[in-house]
Amino acid sequence: MAEPPAMFLKGPYDPLIIERAEGPWLYDRGGRRILDAGAGAVVVNIGQGREEIARLAAEEIARVNYVVPIWDTPARARLAERLARWTPPGLNRFFFTSGGSEAVEAAIKFALMYHKVKGRPGKRKIISRWFSYHGNTLGALSVGGNRGRRADYEHVLFDWPHIPPSYCYRCPWGKTYPGCAIECASALEDEIRKQGADSIAAFIAEPMMGATGGAVPPVKEYWPQIAEICRRNDILLIADEVMTGFGRTGKRFAVEHWELKPDLLIGGKGLTGGYMPMGMLAVDERLALECEGLGAEFMFYTYSSHPLACAIADRVLEIMEREQLVEHAAELGARLGAQLKEELSGHPMVGDIRGTGLFWGLELVRDRDARTPYAPHLRVASRVIGAAIAHGLFVYPSVGMAGEAGGDGVLVTPPFVIGAAEVDYIVRNLRSALDDVHAQLG
Ligand SMILES: Cc1ncc(COP(=O)(O)O)c(C=O)c1O
Repeated sequence: MAEPPAMFLKGPYDPLIIERAEGPWLYDRGGRRILDAGAGAVVVNIGQGREEIARLAAEEIARVNYVVPIWDTPARARLAERLARWTPPGLNRFFFTSGGSEAVEAAIKFALMYHKVKGRPGKRKIISRWFSYHGNTLGALSVGGNRGRRADYEHVLFDWPHIPPSYCYRCPWGKTYPGCAIECASALEDEIRKQGADSIAAFIAEPMMGATGGAVPPVKEYWPQIAEICRRNDILLIADEVMTGFGRTGKRFAVEHWELKPDLLIGGKGLTGGYMPMGMLAVDERLALECEGLGAEFMFYTYSSHPLACAIADRVLEIMEREQLVEHAAELGARLGAQLKEELSGHPMVGDIRGTGLFWGLELVRDRDARTPYAPHLRVASRVIGAAIAHGLFVYPSVGMAGEAGGDGVLVTPPFVIGAAEVDYIVRNLRSALDDVHAQLG
């Protein structure tokens, strides 16, 4: 069989042609079975091949396939009602998009608009964090903290401030928790003071760093302190839960781990579990009402609230409720984490294993004592993924957590429909992949 033509610029992995998928399993053209322990790009939370969703999609398209987003559809109304039960209290105004980056743009624009209509146009900067990933559009890259992904666009990005994240393994203050003063949280206060609170519209962060950081839960004091600093300075708090949302960390949203109520919450990925492209922005009703009262309008995207996407998202969430998949993610995630730590933490390439729920990351290092990352040109994360695929396993890359020095990691974020046997399979085959790459690197 001929290789597929390159669609665009060539990527780091050998192309695979996936012909079909079922639950957590992918089947390639040659009939090879691969366990998708990345859930794709941390998307396929409910597993693949759900017949009831295929049937629903056919019915929905036959009923109505497009509506101008200013109008409602029964599917959108159902979804909004259900989502309001999922999101933190008060966050019950929703804006739907085609994916996560668009939703991040919407959050940034809402924050800027909110302050402007309230008569504070000077509040026009967004503070974000290094080692965060918020998406691929220019606004999202501007708040992003993955230096590699920003590099070719740095000259046009918004010049907005970034602070270090809560990331104990590479603490920029050289401290060790709990013997520190949570400098990662007070860094926000320092930056606000430096910039002037009257110039800052919002602070955006992933509750737990994902695509760049590699599944890093912050220290427990971090988010409550950040929320208090934002409140005191009239700065909107935006939680980007595109990766962590919809059960991934063992709670419906990661902010629940600290009973945190952000002003805006962004979702995507698991919202539709990959059955349709979709993202969402949830806004505190109080803020939406203030904007409406001041006559503000918020422009939609052509495919905002697509009826089919709304119907599928509603059904995906209903399936998660019916099958108690968030609870399962919490229980099985504890087992996965324990097994990863037990069997891989002594591996010569593994510097750190962290995570919660079904959201786990391994940081790979050349020297475990000095925590030295591998040279970026070695593309160690790509190599490990290539080796894992050869063992019938896919894990998702996470690259850039050591800043300019690079940083390689893999995310182990399987669909919520796996069981104990698949946990064994993941850990066993990931170890084989690490052994292979370690031997290669010599
Ligand atoms: C936290 C976070 N925000 C935003 C995005 C961008 O979402 P999308 O790729 O759907 O545009 C991602 C993608 O990985 C993400 O992890």
